[in-house]
Amino acid sequence: MVKASSVFFCRECGYESPRWMGKCPGCLAWNTFVEERYSKKEGKYRDSKKKAPGAPRPITEVKAEQADRLPTGIGEFDRTLGGGIMPASVVLLTGDPGIGKSTLLLQVSAGLARQGHPLLYISGEESAYQIKLRGERLKACHPNMLLAPETDLSLVQEHMAKARPRVVVVDSVQTIYDPNLTSSAGSISQVRECTAALIKAAKEQGMAVFLVGHVTKEGLIAGPKVLEHMVDCVISFEGERHHSYRILRTIKNRFGSASEIGVFTMQEEGLKEVDNPSEYFVTQRPAATAGSVVVASMEGTRPLLVEVQSLVTHSRLPAPRRMATGLDYNRVALILAVLEKRAGLYLQDHDAFVKVVGGVRLEEPAVDLGLAVSLASSFKNRPAGGRDLFIGEVGLTGEIRTVNRVLERIREGARLGFNRFFIPAPTADKAKVMKGVNLVPVTTLEEALEICLGR
Ligand code: TYD
Ligand code: MG
Repeated sequence: MVKASSVFFCRECGYESPRWMGKCPGCLAWNTFVEERYSKKEGKYRDSKKKAPGAPRPITEVKAEQADRLPTGIGEFDRTLGGGIMPASVVLLTGDPGIGKSTLLLQVSAGLARQGHPLLYISGEESAYQIKLRGERLKACHPNMLLAPETDLSLVQEHMAKARPRVVVVDSVQTIYDPNLTSSAGSISQVRECTAALIKAAKEQGMAVFLVGHVTKEGLIAGPKVLEHMVDCVISFEGERHHSYRILRTIKNRFGSASEIGVFTMQEEGLKEVDNPSEYFVTQRPAATAGSVVVASMEGTRPLLVEVQSLVTHSRLPAPRRMATGLDYNRVALILAVLEKRAGLYLQDHDAFVKVVGGVRLEEPAVDLGLAVSLASSFKNRPAGGRDLFIGEVGLTGEIRTVNRVLERIREGARLGFNRFFIPAPTADKAKVMKGVNLVPVTTLEEALEICLGR
């Protein structure tokens, strides 16, 4: 018996509706609804024999087994996952096409295989031959890696049940389809049902599953947004195509910190870890240039030093242009307003462009002070000290507010040769334990600007 009906889905967020709508009530996007024939053959489930539900137990009686995480042998990857792969977890890896998702997972697979963990690599996009060629180039071939070029969900499930691997890689989830559904592969209902089935298999058989999910700008393929709620972890692989660095960023993690990043470079022979990202991001910095400032941001558990660059130029437009790469646009607008009102810089008729070097995205308020100094430095065309580091949040009245983990940031800066640290005044007492560094406790933005850029 086939029950068929039409359902409309929002391409962006997966909102479901029985009729077409112009504006999605879920994500407020316009014209994103697509029709899908949605039907399911009844009585064809593998697990139709219902098990009796287990009785609820008091939390104190539940045995907490210390689940052993599997290290992959790639430190930066383990770090993003919160210290290795959690057994029976489902991880979604997203990223633009061609950024290196398949490369990363193949290297991770090889790392696991070398430690003796059997592994199943399901590819719906490349043939076994193509994967083998890439594997040879990456020196990532091992008999423990089983390849299965497969797109049919039921066969994938069968492979999983038969091979019983510790880890399964599905590249990509958009190519897998459930023949019981009438909609085409890659549609939202397919992606959703297949993911749900894979999650179920992972939890039941205790395997970790990695799903590759594509994102397109137009959202034509089912957006992995729908999947974010279903899986345990979401990590995204980012970077600029024309540069070699790649950043692996945790977006969601049920078993660890959700703000970790891992840094890699893409080279001829595959992805290489960057052990010392701060060094990597700061060393190519131009010496004493107006607008260039180094800030310390906590990314998960480690401080990361990155360069912020600003260019403030006279504008010919009635509404000056403001652009921010790697920083929130509204934050930049706010800092510009504070600079104007509290530090007396007339920025109204100036264009302002801000960029975080290295494709890093800064979200922490602790970088405010550095951002403000960078903008002011470009405006005044006067460089800040080449070995100055700025730590602090800027409030609306121009005050410098306390941030957490000041000591760790200073330590990382000192390690890389920075010798003057602008810090919020209330943290000065705590920071005094640092010997041999020049601390500049500041209470207002105006004061900080005066010290580092002069009057
Ligand atoms: P790929 O992993 O196929 O991307 P995705 O799966 O995210 O679509 O990576 C493809 C890109 O990586 C391609 O542009 C070539 C580049 N690359 C290297 O530079 N070195 C390598 O060793 C490999 C395997 C790929
Ligand atoms: Mg790929």
